[in-house]
Formats: sequence, structure tokens, C-alpha cells
Amino acid sequence: MAAIRMTEVDVWRWVAAEERRAVLLRGVNWTVERGEHWVVLGPNGAGKTTLLSMAAAFSHPSEGTVEVLGQTLGAVDMRTLRESIGTLEPALSRRIQGRYTGYEVVLTGATGSIALLHDRVTDDDRARADRLIGEIGVEHLRERRFEDCSQGERQRLLLARSLMDEPQLLLLDEPTTGLDLPSRERLIASLDTMAEANLDLPTVIVTHHLEEIPSTTTHALLLRDGGIVAAGQIGAVLTSEAVSETFDIEVQVAHNTGRWAAMVVRS
Ligand SMILES: Nc1ncnc2c1ncn2[C@@H]1O[C@H](COP(=O)(O)OP(=O)(O)OP(=O)(O)O)[C@@H](O)[C@H]1O
Ligand SMILES: [Mg+2]
Repeated sequence: MAAIRMTEVDVWRWVAAEERRAVLLRGVNWTVERGEHWVVLGPNGAGKTTLLSMAAAFSHPSEGTVEVLGQTLGAVDMRTLRESIGTLEPALSRRIQGRYTGYEVVLTGATGSIALLHDRVTDDDRARADRLIGEIGVEHLRERRFEDCSQGERQRLLLARSLMDEPQLLLLDEPTTGLDLPSRERLIASLDTMAEANLDLPTVIVTHHLEEIPSTTTHALLLRDGGIVAAGQIGAVLTSEAVSETFDIEVQVAHNTGRWAAMVVRS
């Protein structure tokens, strides 16, 4: 069973004011298998969040089929399916209560809710929260109020939170946005540790920057104007040519000790 399987997927929205269809994704064929760690790269407006929102069972395709964890969207209860999917999206940080401690924020993941539902949290949940706090390396934030945490610290707590409900699929939309260099590196290190500790867990990370790709990443998908430029094993996909085409700017791609970088070529 594939974690995600999209077949001939189109997504369009009707723009009433302009009396036309906006095409967000077209002709997408994409399969994510268990144990694969994907990065989705593409410029602003390429369709990355749209793609992830279907994988998260939050929206349906306009055409084609999307299967998530073996279930076909449109033929399943999306809410039940969502319980098996861990997500980290930019808006989450603003929706969580600032007075919660780091530990409490992680614990909210047990019930997949924004609020901490004390009566539904079990001893097993508490033990798991403690284990994840150690695994992600945020012990020092355990008692800190969420509102006092920096953006990078919040992201790492939210990463631990996303793993609480033992997800079978983990989706991260721009987890490193707004972080300074050391915070970004700490989050990437946490992502690598997480991938190594959960070998089978399929993950998809959306980013704009090759420098933000964790070294445990195995596959890459390049998206431009709603269409796939290339998808597959990361080494075969992240060529200077394909990345230049994706971002419409000539870049030289470098790969060094597991990490990636793109340098703009000036003519
Ligand atoms: N309801 C809608 N109606 C019309 N256009 C839409 C609608 N929702 C999204 N779009 C457009 O679809 C395109 C893809 O959006 P999406 O959020 O998936 O891009 P993205 O790759 O995540 O971009 P970013 O890197 O900026 O987050 C954008 O141009 C966006 O403006
Ligand atoms: Mg987006």
C-alpha cells in the first residue's frame, strides 16, 4: 500500500469575479511509498500547498484520484483518515494557546486538537510526549510557555506534537520559514533524528530552498505552474537543469555531505 498515490490529478477553482477557472494543479501523477522521505520544491504559487492539502485529506481533486494510506478520497470519511496523518503547517503556531507549556503543546497532539483535553490524555500519551521531547531535543522547552518560545523553538515543539498521534504519514509545509540559520539547522537536525528513529514513516516536506533539505531525504518532486517538472530519487531529480527550469532562473546545484545548495549563475 502506497502512503500517497495521485493519478491524473487536476485541481481547479472557479474564480467568479473573472468568470474563469484557475488551474492549481494539472496532470499530477505521484506515488509516495512507505519509508520514503520526499521534498517538494517549487516557486510561490506553484501548487505545493494545494498538493499537500489533498495528501492531508483536507481537500479533494477536481479530476483524477487521490489515495492516502490506501483510502480513496471521496469514498472515505476524511476526518477518520486525518487521524492517521501528522501535519505541521504555518498557521498552527498562531492557533495554539500561548499559555501552554512546551510539554502541554506536545500533549495536545494526542487528541489531534488545538486545546488540551485533559480527560482524554492517557498515561501512555504522557510517556510518549516525554519520549518525543527527548527525541526532538526540546527538553529545555518543556516548562517554557509557548508564547515565550522563539519561532524556531515553536516549530520544534510542533514537530514533536505532530508525532504524538503515531501518524502513518507526516506532512510538513515550509517548517523552516522565518527561522535564522542556527534555528533552521536545529530543526533540520530534529527532522533527521526523527526520520532515523521512525524509519518506516513516510514524510513530505515542502520548501523553497535546497539548503533546507534534510540529509535523510530520499526523493524530490519539482513543481512549476501546477505541473510536475520532475519527480523521483533525489539524486536524479535535483539537477542544475531541472531546478533552473522549476524556478525559471539559472542555478548551479551542489550536493555536499548529504546537503544541497543552489547558486544563481550570473551571466
Ligand atoms: N480558491 C482559489 N481560487 C483561485 N486561485 C487559487 C485559489 N486557491 C489557491 N489559488 C492559487 O493557486 C496557486 C497555487 O497555490 P498554492 O498555495 O498551492 O501555492 P504554493 O506552491 O503553496 O505557493 P507558496 O510557495 O507561496 O506557498 C496560487 O497561484 C494561488 O493563488
Ligand atoms: Mg504554500
